[in-house]
Amino acid sequence: MSHRPIAFHFRGATVEIEGLAPGTTVLQWLREHRRATGTKEGCAEGDCGACMVVIGELDAGRLRLEAVNACIQFLPTLDGKALFTVEDLTTLAGGSLHPVQQALVDAHASQCGFCTPGFVMSLWALYENRVAGVDRDQALDAISGNLCRCTGYRPIVDAALAMHAAPRVTLDRAHVIAALQRLAGLPDLEYTAHGRTFLAPKSLEAFAQARLQHPAARIVAGSTDVGLWVTKQLKDIGDVLYTGGVATLKSIATTGERLEIGAAASLNDAYDALIADHPEWTELKRRFASLPIRNAGTLGGNVANGSPIGDSMPGLIALGASVVLRKGAAERELPMEDFYLAYQKTALEAGEFLRAVRVPRGRNTPVLFRTYKIAKRYEQDISAVCAAFALVLEGGRIAQARVAFGGMAATPKRAPACEAALTGQGWNEATAMRAAAALARDYQPLDDLRASAAYRREVAGQMLIRFWHETGGAREAAVRIEDLAPVAAAGARA
Ligand SMILES: Cc1cc2nc3c(=O)[nH]c(=O)nc-3n(C[C@H](O)[C@H](O)[C@H](O)COP(=O)(O)OP(=O)(O)OC[C@H]3O[C@@H](n4cnc5c(N)ncnc54)[C@H](O)[C@@H]3O)c2cc1C
Ligand code: FES
Ligand code: FES
Repeated sequence: MSHRPIAFHFRGATVEIEGLAPGTTVLQWLREHRRATGTKEGCAEGDCGACMVVIGELDAGRLRLEAVNACIQFLPTLDGKALFTVEDLTTLAGGSLHPVQQALVDAHASQCGFCTPGFVMSLWALYENRVAGVDRDQALDAISGNLCRCTGYRPIVDAALAMHAAPRVTLDRAHVIAALQRLAGLPDLEYTAHGRTFLAPKSLEAFAQARLQHPAARIVAGSTDVGLWVTKQLKDIGDVLYTGGVATLKSIATTGERLEIGAAASLNDAYDALIADHPEWTELKRRFASLPIRNAGTLGGNVANGSPIGDSMPGLIALGASVVLRKGAAERELPMEDFYLAYQKTALEAGEFLRAVRVPRGRNTPVLFRTYKIAKRYEQDISAVCAAFALVLEGGRIAQARVAFGGMAATPKRAPACEAALTGQGWNEATAMRAAAALARDYQPLDDLRASAAYRREVAGQMLIRFWHETGGAREAAVRIEDLAPVAAAGARA
């Protein structure tokens, strides 16, 4: 570790920062220190997308460009990366409007304009990453983290579909890659200012050592939970130990027996790996927050945060996942359900951290698996209830049942009475009804503004009945919102 300034690529050159508190957000730095006010502040909690910027990172020698919310990213997390804001697009386009911006103008996709720079940056990331053009679904996912309260989304989607039509204006990727390669040669970051230190080791060993030496430091990964403690609860999070510099913590490895997802793998990458084995995760991935939150947030952060309404845990617990915890050079493995001791209390000891999540592989096992989320909105909403069911059938009988719920107790939790009602039975409607009734013995649901306890109890049983309909009953293909075609405008004739 060496004391040095934060260094990153910005506006075509390396910027070095000293003297600013490590808890300064990227948005604060842009607006208050650089006076780069094209990036807006709406909610300061990752919900509205007004603050969208694009981060560039090296990934196996290639440039990875991703939209993230600047309001909840801490400035030192930019070390070794490239930062792009809406002002960069004008430079790229030689002083004119960039094709993304021109497409928004042409589609009348802006009224008050407050949200517009955020949409521009989300769409610019899509424009750079999908050179051959985009479809409606990709456009909708790209803007899933952007709110517009006056224009309406139809013209914005039209602009996204049209932005490739104009002559291409592209980023000089070779220039950015060369800059990032130079930054990669810097030593591990130890940045101190205003009495607080931000540590960003690059190797697993150095991270484990730093964790032992600074057991009170707050581990930060994507800061999509921690960032809000600072911007909304105005908490001082003390010294920080950042996982984002450790490449091995981001790795995802598959063997015949299991999938191992490093704690710092992004939610997007982690869910893609889960989907490869169980496509039933697909809808949950799409409904987990928004694309920029999944770009920044990590699976390890979701699991370690231990929220009772976190979305990944029910499915992982149902599939028999375990957590790999590391302290110094020693590792131990726990079933994920044993990791949660009480409300936001985990089995992590002082000096220990989550290294990886392991998931047994289901390709050769007849597992019927589903995970469902009930929330008030399709995207960018926290669950009222999240359920997961996994059954192993042998000769028409349920040989093994694992059921887990979020939002039904103080922690993500299995449902032993429901599992007992399933195990050994035929997978039929009567079994499903009995098992749904048994859930009443497993949980005293939360009662809060997202949903009443009575609603949660009712909907939990209905989720199990839905599982029966989809996997054992009529095997009806579920009707999903994303599969519904837009209705043709009145008067439009083929
Ligand atoms: C707008 C918005 C929407 C959201 N929507 C959803 C949603 O739909 N579903 C959902 O489940 N969550 C949602 N979240 C919450 C959040 O995005 C997730 O919990 C995310 O996975 C957190 O990951 P992170 O990397 O950002 O964690 P961080 O915020 O960096 O850390 C979270 C916690 O985990 C600890 N931690 C992180 N990594 C480790 C490690 N390796 N070892 C030990 N401790 C560690 C940190 O110390 C902290 O206590 C949302 C958040 C926002 C802002
Ligand atoms: S200001 Fe709303 S997401 Fe950042
Ligand atoms: S144009 Fe006003 S909020 Fe989108």
